[in-house]
Amino acid sequence: MGEAKGHVLFFPYPLQGHINPMIQLGKRLSKKGLTVSLIIASNIHREPYTSEDYSITVHTIHDGFFPHEHPHAKIKDPPRFNDSTARSLTDFISRQKLSGNPPKALIYDPFMPFALDVAKDLGLYVVAYFTQPWLASLIYYHINEGTYDVPDDRHEDPILASFPGFPLLSQNDLPSFACEKGSYPLIFKVVVSQFSNLRRADCILCNTFDQLEPKVVKWMDGQWPVKNIGPVVPSKFLDNRLPEDKDYELGDSKTEPDESVLSWLANKPAKSVVYVAFGTLVALSEKQMKETAMAIKQTGYSFLWSVRDSERSKLPSGFVEEALEKDIGMVAKWVPQLEVLAHDSIGCFVTHCGWNSTLEALCLGVPLVGMPQWTDQPTNAKFIEDVWKIGVRVKTDEEGFVSKEEIARCIAEVMEGEKGELMRKNVENFKVLAREAISEGGSSDKKIDEFVAMTT
Ligand code: UDX
Repeated sequence: MGEAKGHVLFFPYPLQGHINPMIQLGKRLSKKGLTVSLIIASNIHREPYTSEDYSITVHTIHDGFFPHEHPHAKIKDPPRFNDSTARSLTDFISRQKLSGNPPKALIYDPFMPFALDVAKDLGLYVVAYFTQPWLASLIYYHINEGTYDVPDDRHEDPILASFPGFPLLSQNDLPSFACEKGSYPLIFKVVVSQFSNLRRADCILCNTFDQLEPKVVKWMDGQWPVKNIGPVVPSKFLDNRLPEDKDYELGDSKTEPDESVLSWLANKPAKSVVYVAFGTLVALSEKQMKETAMAIKQTGYSFLWSVRDSERSKLPSGFVEEALEKDIGMVAKWVPQLEVLAHDSIGCFVTHCGWNSTLEALCLGVPLVGMPQWTDQPTNAKFIEDVWKIGVRVKTDEEGFVSKEEIARCIAEVMEGEKGELMRKNVENFKVLAREAISEGGSSDKKIDEFVAMTT
């Protein structure tokens, strides 16, 4: 660990897909000498704990919800979350300012713009850290500016949307909150409000890298003090400069993955297995889950499917047992996704196109079949298919349903033939670019160094 230089606070939006990229940047800053406090807004109090490998201490602050309420209740009641959490954050920072090592900066998730106001009022240097890509965030920016009008009805208004640095987007390619007026009104407000006070931020970070979104980066240059510092995928799977950084955990809060999937994969030929996973939040309808199961079976490829406990009952009856018996597939409730994607046996990744999963596949050179569901996922899928050409996106019917034939067709397209070969080649190129960006002297590494210098 480097010599202690300064103390920075990280304040992620409290969902795993947002917390992980904060932890990962925290690890890199800690190794460059900064002391890091990670603040998690929660309805369950936890005593602070410090990681063994990094100078990172995790603190919880109260989010205004009762311990018996569901951890996701906050998504449905942003005003309650924002008011209570702003008060807790003010108390926390005020106390930290009286400590022997007062914090200099707050790195916050723009899903919580109130954090910027709190930290500015308390005299901190304030940094907005976008953990979702610019692709979705810039669309929210244009909505906030009034330069893009969300259509009244996604089906009645097929006009393509045009944004600087972007290809033309159909309604289907827009983030779910931006395709139709009135869909998810509370979350719509959260994503658009990210830009309500962003001009006051001293610096803006994003978990992406310049070479991935060059046109967008060019357009943004000069508009905002942006530093792209990603991909912050664990170092073992990228530059390996932090050898102990093998997953997103800090050491003592590990979600135990099912490691037996790795021995199952060990017997499979190279590029022969279809890996399927839909992240931490997506819940497919029971009909779609069954259809997906039939599609995978129909392809004849071996498969590994990560199905969270809450989703398991939606699988066709006997599906898991039959797959195991015939040794054609394995269903696990949580897998070590990075180890899986890095495994030689994996031929493609059927994914919801969450940003972390997308970056992981890209860093490990795995082509994708995109089944985006909501939020930033449709826009990520558009770039996967049409801009980066590292995968295909399934086509849905009017209701958003995907048939088994369509899923099977997409899997075959990625696993076989010339088009699949090309996607594999393209994703391999991005793998190299991602490594270069985060390695010593790469574009993202330099931005991290500049950031450390600013906060020291
Ligand atoms: C959410 C949103 O849904 C997503 O669109 C946004 O970009 C980020 O926030 P989530 O749905 O959880 O994220 O998806 P994703 O961003 O892909 O993150 C999932 C994470 O869980 C990945 O880091 C993945 O490696 C991990 N994972 C998933 C496992 O480690 N094991 C599993 O079995 C499944």
